[in-house]
Amino acid sequence: MAFLEVKNIKKKFGSNEVLKDISFSLEKGEVLAIIGSSGSGKTTLLRCLNFLEKADDGVISVDGNLLFDGSDRSTTSDKNIRRKRLHFGLVFQSFNLFPQYTALKNIMLAPEMLLKERAKKEKLSAHQKREEHEKIVAHAKELLDSVGLSAKEKSYPCELSGGQCQRVAIARALALSPDVLCFDEPTSALDPELTGEVLRVIRNLKSSDRTMIVVTHEMEFARNVADKVIFMSDGVIEEAGTPEEVFDNPKSERTREFLNRPGF
Ligand SMILES: Nc1ncnc2c1ncn2[C@@H]1O[C@H](COP(=O)(O)OP(=O)(O)OP(=O)(O)O)[C@@H](O)[C@H]1O
Ligand SMILES: [Mg+2]
Repeated sequence: MAFLEVKNIKKKFGSNEVLKDISFSLEKGEVLAIIGSSGSGKTTLLRCLNFLEKADDGVISVDGNLLFDGSDRSTTSDKNIRRKRLHFGLVFQSFNLFPQYTALKNIMLAPEMLLKERAKKEKLSAHQKREEHEKIVAHAKELLDSVGLSAKEKSYPCELSGGQCQRVAIARALALSPDVLCFDEPTSALDPELTGEVLRVIRNLKSSDRTMIVVTHEMEFARNVADKVIFMSDGVIEEAGTPEEVFDNPKSERTREFLNRPGF
């Protein structure tokens, strides 16, 4: 069984079938790039994997844990949804940082919330809580350093460039140590000169054995960094393979048309 198994995912909005029957798998440490035209269902797929949307049917499992099975109601209820979400991290196109908090605090927020819950459940002493909190601060600082922003820990999002905000958002997604880190067009809101610094951070994550799914329009990046590429069209996987297979030898006419569009 692969590290991430996604089988027969279906999702409708009203009568609009947005995901028709999506299946793929990833081994640990692999990077999947998803390409496809606007409206083909890429964001919806990431949102289903992160349980921000509930798929209508299909199976999602990570590292042998069955997280969702459309035919097993015990896995589709909203119970334990927050636990399930911890398996995935999601970095949005528009960063979605909290403007009222510093870069460091943005990274610490979710771990702090989990600590609060744990402290209550396990009745941690004030001393234990302080110790655990110090670990959260140290980890957040390490993460900020790993995206090249240790000098900016006290800066607010409005004091950072788009590229820096996105790097904070990546550090924030890493703070909960997700099994699979997903990116939804992480550079498409950035000026071209800021795109490189974000792509470099993602590339470095690959060398640290992160399993990642990247929805992207950056074809060179997909070619160089991804182990697998999926081309989505109209809610189906039209083509899947290695970057060489998909970019150099596409089997489907639709993929060829997409890759040959003017401006690419
Ligand atoms: N919450 C929603 N309610 C109703 N329809 C939705 C919702 N979210 C997405 N859709 C529809 O699902 C389809 C796929 O949208 P999605 O955002 O997944 O596409 P995408 O491939 O990410 O496109 P883009 O490249 O523009 O980001 C679209 O037709 C969209 O209108
Ligand atoms: Mg999208």
